Parts: sequence; structure tokens; C-alpha cells
Amino acid sequence: MTRRVDVLHNEDCIAGLKKLDAGVVDLAFADPPFNIGYEYDAYDDRLESEHYLAWSRDWTAEVARVLKPNGTFWLAIGDEYAAELKVMLQREHGLSCRSWVVWYYTFGVNCKQKFSRSHAHLFHMVKDPAAFTFNAEAVRVPSARQLVYGDKRANPTGRLPDDTWVLRPQDLPDGFRPDEDTWYFPRVCGTFKERTGWHGCQMPEQLLGRIIRASSNEGELVLDPFGGSGTTLAVAKKLRRHFLGYELSEQYSEQIRKRLAAIKPGDPLDGAAEPLVSCPKTADGRRLDDVRSKIPGSGPKRQKKTSTKGQANLPGL
Ligand SMILES: C[S@@+](CC[C@H](N)C(=O)[O-])C[C@H]1O[C@@H](n2cnc3c(N)ncnc32)[C@H](O)[C@@H]1O
Repeated sequence: MTRRVDVLHNEDCIAGLKKLDAGVVDLAFADPPFNIGYEYDAYDDRLESEHYLAWSRDWTAEVARVLKPNGTFWLAIGDEYAAELKVMLQREHGLSCRSWVVWYYTFGVNCKQKFSRSHAHLFHMVKDPAAFTFNAEAVRVPSARQLVYGDKRANPTGRLPDDTWVLRPQDLPDGFRPDEDTWYFPRVCGTFKERTGWHGCQMPEQLLGRIIRASSNEGELVLDPFGGSGTTLAVAKKLRRHFLGYELSEQYSEQIRKRLAAIKPGDPLDGAAEPLVSCPKTADGRRLDDVRSKIPGSGPKRQKKTSTKGQANLPGL
């Protein structure tokens, strides 16, 4: 039985997906709990590994089943289970990996005994490697030839959007290019206008915008088994796609419904489409000297600048 669309079900996603016919979803995006002990309202994020993998096998099998023959599945996952889930999707569910995108973000949780988490893996999987939606023209970005070199040979329509250690992408000479498979979007942190404030894992709308524009068309069906704060569904609605979501927590579900009710198809996405334009370079930050004086061995004080540009974003350091 195929269910009504443009709804969020307060329901376990496996139970909910089992009620769907096979082959009805154009695009699925899933950002499941990573099994890292995150505090959710109604889900225990500390499962034994074998239990977590068995559960992942069950829900990914359902996602693969409900995808159309030319459907696409994007999975967001942390380091801990990325390898096992990628192999599971390919070997057990027969999906093909088009891209292994790394989402690099600033404002991650600060760690004391290891490098702070600043990326998640985004596996772009398709059911049929010869037939799938990929709207390259919908996600093109200005090229370095256009932006930096003024090269007349540059394609005027821009270009399609590396394991690199970068402290602040704003400081790379050419910026941090969205046409590569390492993507930079800041996490939606506490001070951002976009932040809903009631879910700690809220993904940026612009990130989902790129995925939904590239991998689906207007009027098609976008599925998110793990609603969270409702970002996927909100962006799907704004971009005039149908949507279907599941969320275990009653409290999050109520909030998602409120978020969706406040949105009209065609509304602009929250956040800057080009995340680097609004960020000052570190060299222009007024607080650089204060920061340097507290970091052992960070070198002599630099000449005071008179720049009145915005303050440096210290948490990105
Ligand atoms: C990482 S969050 C998703 C965040 C989301 N991508 C966003 O941008 O807000 C994962 C969500 O999955 C929900 N969840 C966990 N197990 C579930 C299940 N079996 N069925 C449906 N939702 C579940 C959790 O309550 C949590 O809100």
C-alpha cells in the first residue's frame, strides 16, 4: 500500500517503510544516529556494535526496497561506521556509489583528547549506475577561472561542484571550492538565525539544497527516515518536491510539523548559498592578537590593523 505524501509520521522508520510499496521513492536522504552516545529524546545512541549494524542493515534494506529503479540514496554517516555501511549498501543492497563526498564543517564539538570532529561522510548511492537523476546544471558554482583569474576561457556557466587539513577555509588563497568532493558548510550553531534551537543535529538547509537539486526534480518524492529537526523535509517542500518523513520522537515530530507548516513551496533556503562570502579572513579579524598571545609558540604580535571588518570567528580556529 502506498501512503499519503507530504507528511511526517511519528513512527519507527522501519515499521513505516514496510508499509510502502517497493519502488516509489525518487530520492532518499538519511542522517541516522551515528551510535556515538548522542543524547536524543527517544532513541538510545549507545548500542552494541553488532546491534547497531543489524539495525542499520534492516533500515537500509527498506530504503533500498522503496527506491525507484532510477532512484538515489544519500547517506550521512560518521567515521565510526562509514566503512561498514558503505560496504553493506554496495554488497548487500546492490547500490552503486557515485561519489564519496566529505562534508567539512566548522563549529564542531570541541574535543580535548583527539582532533575535533569536523566532517561527516556523504555517500551518494544509486540503484542503477546507468540510469539516475543528476542535475549538474542545478548545482554549478563559479569556477576559480572566473572568480580569481578572470580567464576568458572560463565556462560562463561555472563548473560542477580533498583529505586536507584546513583550519579555516576562508584563509585558503582561492577559498574552499564547492566544486570539489570536500564541501564546506558551517554546522548550524547556536547563534545562527537558521537554528531551530530544539535539535542538536540540525543540518544546514544549503547542504540539503545541493543534494535535492542535484538528485531529484520538482514534483518527485523525497524520503527522510530520520526526521530530526526536519531539514530534509523543509528543503524538499521549499524546492517543490513531495516529501515523506519518519521520526521516532513525539516531541521532535510536533516541532517538525510546525516547521513545515510555516513553509511555502518556493520559499528561499536559509543560510548563505556561498558560505565563504560572509566570513572575514583571519588576517582581518580584530581579535587575532588576543588569540595569539594565549597560544604558546604562536609567534610575535603582528602590526595592528585598522580594518573595521567583522570580528574573526574564533570557534573555527
Ligand atoms: C541525526 S538526527 C537527524 C537530523 C536531521 N538530519 C536534521 O537535519 O535535523 C537522527 C534522528 O533520528 C531519529 N530516530 C532514531 N531512530 C529512529 C527510528 N527508528 N525511526 C525514526 N526516527 C528515528 C532520532 O530521534 C533523531 O531525531
